[in-house]
Amino acid sequence: LSIDKGNHRHFMMKEIYEQPIVVAQTLRSYLRPLEQQVALPQMEFDLSTIERVVIVACGTASYVGMIGKYWIEQMARLPVDVDVASEFRYRDPVLGPGVLGVVVSQSGETADTLAALRHMKAAGVTTAGIINVPTSSMAREVDLLLPTHAGPEIGVASTKAFTCQLAVMAALSVNLARAKGKLDAAAEGEIVRHLEESPAAINAALAHDGNIEAMAHIIAAARDVLYLGRGVDFPLALEGALKLKEISYIHAEGYASGEMKHGPIALIDEAVPLIVIAPGGPLFEKTVSNMHEAMARGAKVVLISDAAGLAEAGGDAMATIEMPTVHPLIAPLVYAVPIQLLAYHVAVTKGTDVDQPRNLAKSVTVE
Ligand code: G6P
Repeated sequence: LSIDKGNHRHFMMKEIYEQPIVVAQTLRSYLRPLEQQVALPQMEFDLSTIERVVIVACGTASYVGMIGKYWIEQMARLPVDVDVASEFRYRDPVLGPGVLGVVVSQSGETADTLAALRHMKAAGVTTAGIINVPTSSMAREVDLLLPTHAGPEIGVASTKAFTCQLAVMAALSVNLARAKGKLDAAAEGEIVRHLEESPAAINAALAHDGNIEAMAHIIAAARDVLYLGRGVDFPLALEGALKLKEISYIHAEGYASGEMKHGPIALIDEAVPLIVIAPGGPLFEKTVSNMHEAMARGAKVVLISDAAGLAEAGGDAMATIEMPTVHPLIAPLVYAVPIQLLAYHVAVTKGTDVDQPRNLAKSVTVE
């Protein structure tokens, strides 16, 4: 991958479009298609001795941690804590043997995350790192390096690193599940097949770019935006809101759909667009019922769902974004695409500096 913009106006767009390739590239080093297994690099410790997982990261990488909590708890039945790195050390977290400390970082140099890693190591915790820069400080210091192969990410707002981090987090979750005896070979084979489908599904999501560009002016005109999602789509809602804040300077908040009635519903009127992330799956109906509560109060909704979801609930929405029908495990990797594209096109509509947003740095090396 060369470090130029190719045919794109901005690095961010180029990096969004690279996702089918770099996610496939990342998965290639974790999937064993012949054995129908998900493998990790060689390690010096035994995953079956892990009793608890502590994930620490900043910004977009911290949302990968939150999604990892859902996955690891579901698949491996291990308790998981997730912290933003700037809070982690100062609350004197409970650490000790049996803990796997996981840092997630594109750069491998973010000061707070690096300090958190050193804090965990000093407490005798076994550490792993989902890291994109293999020569970075964190990559050198973790006990187990779990590389992402996103290639250089230049746009300040993280995009392709995020989806690659999710792919590796899924691989870690599966390995913990197997080590803890919670996953049989047939179930693992299913997961391998779903993960293998993700690059094509990301590609299918990219095909809706034109539709997203066409609706960007509606969001660009808003002062505030609310993002809603349930389950793993709640951290994705946080990521959607962060992307809008970072590059389009629109105040946006991500909320767990069911939490909306405990506060943010008071903000809703016709001027606050509501973006609802609702892939098909066990939580779809609940999310849609939260969406209808908001619509009853005048909310203008953008619904992101698959064909069946849009057929069922898209009729009343102001706009819809159709995603391919995917297994819930890979939905976060696929639904990340429209929220990235929306933030990008809103920023371009507003004329902001997409690759170098004001006040932000690609890698924050001070606390
Ligand atoms: C900065 C970047 C974000 C990134 C965060 C964590 O704030 O602008 O895009 O998510 O740092 O960076 P890291 O390199 O640790 O993933």
